[in-house]
Amino acid sequence: NDYFVYKDGKLYCEDVNIQNLASKIGTPFYIYSKKAIIDKINEYKEAFKDYPTLICYALKANSNLSILKIFEEHGLGADIVSGGELYKARKVGIPSNKIVYAGVGKTDVEIIYAINENILSFNVESQMELEVINEIAKRQNKKANISIRINPDVDPKTHPYISTGLKKSKFGIDIGQALDVYKQAVKMENLNVVGIHCHIGSQIMDVSVYKEAVEKTVDLVFKLKKEGIELQFIDIGGGLGVKYYPEDNPPTAFDLANTVLPIVKQTGLKLIIEPGRSLIAQAGALITKVIFTKDKKDKHFVIVDSGMNDLIRPSIYNAYHHIITVEEKQEKMVADIVGPICETGDFFGLDREIGKVNRGDLLAILTAGAYGSSMASNYNVRPKAIEILVDGDKFKIIKEREDYSFITKLEEEVL
Ligand code: LLP
Repeated sequence: NDYFVYKDGKLYCEDVNIQNLASKIGTPFYIYSKKAIIDKINEYKEAFKDYPTLICYALKANSNLSILKIFEEHGLGADIVSGGELYKARKVGIPSNKIVYAGVGKTDVEIIYAINENILSFNVESQMELEVINEIAKRQNKKANISIRINPDVDPKTHPYISTGLKKSKFGIDIGQALDVYKQAVKMENLNVVGIHCHIGSQIMDVSVYKEAVEKTVDLVFKLKKEGIELQFIDIGGGLGVKYYPEDNPPTAFDLANTVLPIVKQTGLKLIIEPGRSLIAQAGALITKVIFTKDKKDKHFVIVDSGMNDLIRPSIYNAYHHIITVEEKQEKMVADIVGPICETGDFFGLDREIGKVNRGDLLAILTAGAYGSSMASNYNVRPKAIEILVDGDKFKIIKEREDYSFITKLEEEVL
């Protein structure tokens, strides 16, 4: 992409030479281009500028505070799924009235927190949750804003683990039952029924699936109107796909807008969208160093200093991330790029053609800005990769390196 390019055979993020940076700060690290993030924000704003639209960034994609701050500064709201994400969104100053909260298992503590913060909407995923939010709001002497997350039974044609809008999935309330649930909701004294929500899946490469989902949602909006239930907004979730394979040609925010706006317009309701991946994936790469190379009879391995604890997508979704050398190489090799963790699933790429590398060389695992650091763990008691934000020729460490005492602190305290 435009943000990670070779200049004189060396890989740069914007104007920062990645090899030089690595020798200063060590590896592994995530590196993000600020310009890439801002360009994406502007693409979304431009695409939806003719219709009142609130862009709620889905924090789960990447919730580093310095990155959230960029979204906050550009006026975006937040799509959250936990008390922790609410805390982070508020920490960087995202106003409560731009925060929507989805998730099938909100705890009482989380509900109380969000009610007290007066968030824009709980996206309610079950009848029982509706009743509990009403009860808790009553105890707090408050009214909670709610939308019903409907499950439209639409196949997003993506990986089964990230398909969320099928009838068999745990998410949302079946579209057939939604009208009844709305009728009950408007009778509950401590709820304001403000909207309708729908999110069908992630890494969507064919925007026509949005058409189907939004049409079904809008259909319900009209049915509700007939029953005298007037909403303020329609939230169509996130899910726009990004380029992982070099030959991928993902839809843009404009394609999304062109698909959904004509349908949403019929309702006159304000629109909410919840993009996560498509705002941040391209902006980030994971930089890792080759520790060893290893040759078996017909097979070559490149063993690097980052593992599935830093980027788990290849392991759990068999996801493809394009991998390139930080120093451009003429000679090529085919190898499995693997981490040091004691699992066969600990790989970044299998049978990949990459530049011929040696011990000490650096690799860049691309399109790692989304669901990379946010899904990282300390498995094998490995400190997490640090994170760097690049702005032109400047860089800033936005997450420091953990040391062993930090990782074990909460256990040592009680030993
Ligand atoms: N809204 C809701 C209610 C969601 O569940 C999600 C993602 C989003 C918005 C944002 O979707 P996005 O624009 O990022 O596609 N860990 C997986 C992705 C899980 C997505 C879960 N929900 C992965 O690495 O592919």
